[in-house]
Amino acid sequence: MHVVTTFSRQPSFMVRGIPIYGDLILSPMAGFSDLPYRLIARDFGSAMGYTEFVSVDGLLQGNEKTRRMLDFDPSEYPLSFQVFGSSEDKIVEACKMIEPLGPTIIDLNMGCSVAKVSGRGAGAALLCDPPKIGRIFSRLTKELSVPVTGKIRLGWDDKSRNYLITAKTLEDNGASLIAVHGRTKAQAYTGSADWSPIAEIKQTVKIPVIGNGDVKCVADIKRIKQQTGCDGVMIGRAAIGNPWIFSRKDRHDVTFEEKAALIRRHFSLMLDYYGKYGLILFRKHVVKYISEIRGAAAMRESFLTAETAEQFIALLEEAEVEHLVLKAA
Ligand SMILES: Cc1cc2nc3c(=O)[nH]c(=O)nc-3n(C[C@H](O)[C@H](O)[C@H](O)COP(=O)(O)O)c2cc1C
Repeated sequence: MHVVTTFSRQPSFMVRGIPIYGDLILSPMAGFSDLPYRLIARDFGSAMGYTEFVSVDGLLQGNEKTRRMLDFDPSEYPLSFQVFGSSEDKIVEACKMIEPLGPTIIDLNMGCSVAKVSGRGAGAALLCDPPKIGRIFSRLTKELSVPVTGKIRLGWDDKSRNYLITAKTLEDNGASLIAVHGRTKAQAYTGSADWSPIAEIKQTVKIPVIGNGDVKCVADIKRIKQQTGCDGVMIGRAAIGNPWIFSRKDRHDVTFEEKAALIRRHFSLMLDYYGKYGLILFRKHVVKYISEIRGAAAMRESFLTAETAEQFIALLEEAEVEHLVLKAA
């Protein structure tokens, strides 16, 4: 008898009506979560993408470099465009302007700690004014058709950890998901991420909650999920040079051959997208890809001096041969 089995894949969570299949997500990261790397992370299992954050001022001024940061490939869907800004009117206007470009979701950054952003009332500075967050989300969710989400930190500093108020304000004003980095703005990236507030938020709101901060390895994914009950896990720094984490494989379990093949592929995507400049932009990725390889320091030195794509590939080939020799020795 021929038995037909049907597998129905359940989404891990829904962003309003949009099913998200998978619980691991590449963090939005300026300078890293660009189109080439998002394609790679998605292939390895990142369930959805976020663009690098884009300035609403830049968008409204028609800055071409800013708009280009919203380039995407339809294979990335579901994809969130992330914006940052301070003025309520400008945030709403810019989001309305970019919605027709086709994002699945629009996300507002309320976590950036960098002075250039938070010192100008954007990013984490918004956390100091929950009523303003409420007004922005109330307008965005009424004026846009796509779901609107927010990415937050725990508060401005230790004295103002207002994450529950912020989360509730977001939910009450129509947000469809909250991603939470378990640090305050004042901490920047120091100390360690505190995951217990993420658990409190998860118990307080009904919309999906994404846990984020210091998820460095596969075991951490399990720990943050167990400790917080979060619907998904966002991974930033540990995913640089290590998209394998989205396949729940740790960096040290990846072979040199796998790394070399991915370096080639990523480099080629960078050249396709950025042209010659892709070589320079790829440097920060390659140093991460090779960071745990034997002889990384010397390799790093030579990769950073390559002046053309051909030189870079020749150096990679040399490294591959050297690796074979070392392996055989
Ligand atoms: C280089 C870099 C760029 C970042 N850019 C953004 C950004 O554009 N938007 C954003 O919401 N967060 C940004 N972040 C914060 C990350 O999304 C994430 O919240 C933070 O790194 C903590 O997660 P991790 O411990 O997994 O790295 C950035 C972080 C880094 C290291």
